Amino acid sequence: MTYRILLIHGPNLDLLGDREPSHYGTMKLEEINARMERIAEQQGALLRALQSNSEGALIDAIHDARLWADGIVINPGAYTHYSYALRDALAAVRLPAVEVHLSNVHAREEFRRISVIAPVVTGTVAGLGWRGYAAALEALLGLLADGREGQS
Ligand code: DQA
Repeated sequence: MTYRILLIHGPNLDLLGDREPSHYGTMKLEEINARMERIAEQQGALLRALQSNSEGALIDAIHDARLWADGIVINPGAYTHYSYALRDALAAVRLPAVEVHLSNVHAREEFRRISVIAPVVTGTVAGLGWRGYAAALEALLGLLADGREGQS
């Protein structure tokens, strides 16, 4: 079975490599995507990656994923902390999804400890840098293969 995965990067993640490297590391988004594509290929999966700074574009991509994807890996950036619209989109499409944060959001400012996304995703990875994306993808593919992709 070839699983199809949508990888979503939210606002400001286009600046990775340059943006606050003490929190987000020095790897550029293109390199993260290239590594993720390699992992997907090794696992026999198909990956489509998308970055947008616009909430509407992210929501449209999630809606569209209903038509082709088996699961979602998403770093919602700052939308994590307050976008009920993004949360509702993920809840609406009911695809298994893993939330990723490069930084350890629990060890930073108070507002970053809240995720309005967490209750509607399968699981969350935070604080592992780019490796968090790899962990999320591998876990998601494993859950899909096990048939345990439900949101609980
Ligand atoms: C982030 C954490 C968010 O709080 C922040 O707004 C981001 C990146 C992370 O990957 O650590 O843009 O999602």
